[in-house]
Amino acid sequence: MLSQPPSLVAASAIFLAKYILDPTRRSWNSTLQHYTQYKSMELKGCVKDLQRLTSNAHVTTLPAVREKYSQHKYKFVAKKFCPSTITQEFFNNS
Ligand SMILES: *[C@@H]1O[C@H](CO)[C@@H](O)[C@H](O)[C@H]1NC(C)=O
Repeated sequence: MLSQPPSLVAASAIFLAKYILDPTRRSWNSTLQHYTQYKSMELKGCVKDLQRLTSNAHVTTLPAVREKYSQHKYKFVAKKFCPSTITQEFFNNS
């Protein structure tokens, strides 16, 4: 992720987190576009990179972060299921 601007990674993380919480709804909207200055289409590549990292996190050789956020006090957030595909039309402007 080091090759990407931090603002792009941050916006993409919000997109993916919202998608994981509710895959039936569009993650991006006009408010998020306004404040991040990114259109959903511009996030596509970075969101997919993050999604791949998240999906493969269970096979990492560095499990500390995953174990930490698998605890009750963090609401088991690391155990949340990450869908392997993202509805393509969610990257199109609404
Ligand atoms: C866009 O999404 C954000 C975060 O979920 C929310 O706070 C905001 O109200 C939404 N804006 C619109 C126009 O729905």
